[in-house]
Amino acid sequence: MRVSAAKRTLAACVGMLFTMSALAQTPIHAQMPIHAQMPAADVLRPAGTWSETNFGNAPLPPMGWNSWNAFATQIDEEKLMGSAQAIVKSGLRDLGYRYINIDDGWWQKRGQPDGRMQIRTSIFPSALVVGSQETSFRPLVDRLHALRFKAGIYTDIGRNACSQGYPQADSLLPTGTVAEREVGIFDHVDQDLSLYFQAWGFDYIKVDGCGLNAFGADSPAVKSGQFHAFPVMVVSDAINQTEVAKIRGLYAEVRDVLERLRPDGDFVFSICNWGTANVRAWGRDTGNLWRTSDDIEPRWTQMLYNFDSVATRELYSGPGHWNDPDMLFIGHGDFDDQHLTEARTHFALWAIEDAPLIIGFDLRQAPRSLLDIWGAAEIVAVDQDAGGNQGVIEYSSDDALIIVKQLSGRDEKAVVIFNRGSAPLKATLTAEHLKFLPSAPIQARDLWAKRDLPAFTKEMSVDLAPRESVMLRVKGQPELAGGMYLSEMPARIYVAADGVRDLQADPQIHRPVGLESGTRGAGPRPALAGWGAPRADSTPYNNQLRLRGHPYASGIGVLANSRLQVRTDRQFARFSAQVGLDDSSLERATRVRFEVYGDGRLLAQSPALGFEDSAFALDAGVSNVKILELVAREVGVGHAPSVVTWGAAALLR
Ligand code: GLA
Repeated sequence: MRVSAAKRTLAACVGMLFTMSALAQTPIHAQMPIHAQMPAADVLRPAGTWSETNFGNAPLPPMGWNSWNAFATQIDEEKLMGSAQAIVKSGLRDLGYRYINIDDGWWQKRGQPDGRMQIRTSIFPSALVVGSQETSFRPLVDRLHALRFKAGIYTDIGRNACSQGYPQADSLLPTGTVAEREVGIFDHVDQDLSLYFQAWGFDYIKVDGCGLNAFGADSPAVKSGQFHAFPVMVVSDAINQTEVAKIRGLYAEVRDVLERLRPDGDFVFSICNWGTANVRAWGRDTGNLWRTSDDIEPRWTQMLYNFDSVATRELYSGPGHWNDPDMLFIGHGDFDDQHLTEARTHFALWAIEDAPLIIGFDLRQAPRSLLDIWGAAEIVAVDQDAGGNQGVIEYSSDDALIIVKQLSGRDEKAVVIFNRGSAPLKATLTAEHLKFLPSAPIQARDLWAKRDLPAFTKEMSVDLAPRESVMLRVKGQPELAGGMYLSEMPARIYVAADGVRDLQADPQIHRPVGLESGTRGAGPRPALAGWGAPRADSTPYNNQLRLRGHPYASGIGVLANSRLQVRTDRQFARFSAQVGLDDSSLERATRVRFEVYGDGRLLAQSPALGFEDSAFALDAGVSNVKILELVAREVGVGHAPSVVTWGAAALLR
């Protein structure tokens, strides 16, 4: 089943809201990141300790295989084990593809009256427990574990699942009474997770969200009498009608129970609410990965949409917590073995963004050309670099992008130069894009061609066919001899307060023609909240960082009334930055004070700076500091959010 945003919206709009006491009681985790709805004084108060919660087992972006893009609900044990065996045989497992994940379609029904979930044994015969009414995935999970895989299962945060809300002609759906068909986790969080993680031994869970948007009282699904109505909390293209706090609370409860059931932290929690409900901001505090957009499709323009939904979220990703642009669709449609340029680009883009690499193809019959893409060891190594820095956009137009990812080696970066357009392009990569000295030689290796290129100084050119990307690993002399820009270490940054006053849809994301709707209607509008969030090497509204006419190629752009934490771990001697109200700020009447805290102590601050003030140089000793906090505090309240720049913000040794 493919569910388009338009379809989800329609279902949600015809649904009626009603309240349920169970929802009001949903526990909200104590350590939620703070948003601007709280009084500014609270969100700006330095915590002195690292505020991000740590849970689960995802130090690197998860890699593996999932049944959905290959088989939809037509999954069965033979297909799954066949792909698992192919992963072993092809060497992909040893490259890191270690999760084998079952998606929608596995369930038969929720047994009554005990509520125990039952597996569809016609497709998973090993789940049949001889001489008993029970079913169990334990034998299958044991087989996967014996092959040195980890195993993943799927559920929905509501009472019913996506395949039920948006059935396809061939969907294998749960059977029985209305209650028996309630296979989602709602009201059964403890019971289901104990079954999946303790009795059956799963290690990974993907929790979908259709239960929160497809079962409104007026939805076709409910009107048909097959389902109980459930409050519509998600309106996919209307963040103002989406119940952000409730949705977040429901997902947080799942995380809390997982932490309890697996005290050793051996679990992965994948949030799948398609980038709605502002999950692009809170996902990292709740899940190990969170979908940033609606479903990927094997279409070029849909892939661009999924990619764009993560490409500007570099400050939200890092070890343990990954932006998820959805699973790979390599092998199908625009990314099949007749379209290797597109397939390689899809893979390179996912790798440079530290996206989870989850294969969605029937690997029992994969051609060599595709195995070579998933198996491109040097590209996988970029995705899996231990530093966990997501790539940062260093050149951006609608036609081309240059994305640079700082690797663990101080003087090493990975780069994707990407031709989005339909015409050939001669692209130029400069030392400035890499934050390397233009005068020193830069070594470059072409990761698809697996060959070293001649070293260059200043800049190099590459010819790109339409939709082609070149992926390089480069080594040079960093611009900052004794330090690093903050924008080179996004994984060390935690956005404790983003300064966003009102949630707004991010307009930068590609808007493809709908798969089913085509050009009927008026077309998709921006839908994913996140506009105005802090950025590396850009203002929050996609302008170049600039103070009184002076551009900064490196720095952090953020709204005022924000607080960013930076993990310095006593590894640096000084912090320095040029700060001020950015030239692009629409709000010019307010003043902003910049404060730098080390482990909760004020180390340096600027006066309250107005628009007429030139950039102020901040400098602070940080030798013994573990957590640096950068606060931009607005003095006076303006009509529009003030855009501020931490220009050339750097940690020096
Ligand atoms: C949603 C998810 C997909 C897949 C299907 C299953 O659309 O986003 O990834 O899990 O449901 O029905």
